[in-house]
Amino acid sequence: MNDAASTVDGPILTVVGQKVALGPLPKESAVSLGVKWLNDLEVTRTLSITAGRPFTLEAEQDWYDRVSRSDSDVLFAIYERATLRIIGSTGLHRIDHFNRTAEFGILIGEKDCWGKGFGTETARLMLDYAFNVLGLHNVMLKVFSYNERGIRAYARAGFKVIGRRREAHRLGGRAFDEIFMDCLATEFEGSAFAGILPTG
Ligand SMILES: CC(C)(COP(=O)(O)OP(=O)(O)OC[C@H]1O[C@@H](n2cnc3c(N)ncnc32)[C@H](O)[C@@H]1OP(=O)(O)O)[C@@H](O)C(=O)NCCC(=O)NCCS
Repeated sequence: MNDAASTVDGPILTVVGQKVALGPLPKESAVSLGVKWLNDLEVTRTLSITAGRPFTLEAEQDWYDRVSRSDSDVLFAIYERATLRIIGSTGLHRIDHFNRTAEFGILIGEKDCWGKGFGTETARLMLDYAFNVLGLHNVMLKVFSYNERGIRAYARAGFKVIGRRREAHRLGGRAFDEIFMDCLATEFEGSAFAGILPTG
């Protein structure tokens, strides 16, 4: 990797957890890995962004250019801490600083990294970042009812189910519910930023 988000010492890491670390998402990786992940039906079956269509390099570049420059989005690469390879991306979107709300998104595209606790820790670090760094109050997400891995990971990270939109998502000729989950700053305990942020 050789671009603005890496140095001779390795990638830039903004938030470091036990299993994962989060840092600026390099454009080169975002585009090349994004196109790989978003054309893998096993990955996209739980995502709403591609709706089963092939995903082009141009579409990924456009998405990156828009989101990485937007004031209402925060975008991070997810690094596997042990290897420092990029395994996915995560973000806060539709950030509204007046109402102090945002929507959480995550994509772990490297399938060998599923089910190892990386998604749970990433979701928790992103809630922590949203509440304790950005000062937000409510973070929401939407997940399809058949994404049991995601629902479990989000619940363990601190999200609660707040409702469901029935039969609003179709896959393979069947209709599934969309589940909405959120977390409030007042419900979130502990912070990876405790040693950095001012106290009192
Ligand atoms: C959804 C996603 C973020 C979850 O991250 P992850 O690292 O795989 O999840 P974790 O390992 O942290 O947690 C998974 C939980 O589901 C459980 N689980 C694992 N495999 C499962 C399966 N096949 N069915 C049901 N539960 C499963 C695990 O036991 C764990 O729960 P536990 O901690 O209570 O034991 C990740 O798999 C992903 O990015 N998938 C593809 C894209 C996607 O779905 N994005 C999110 C759209 S809302």
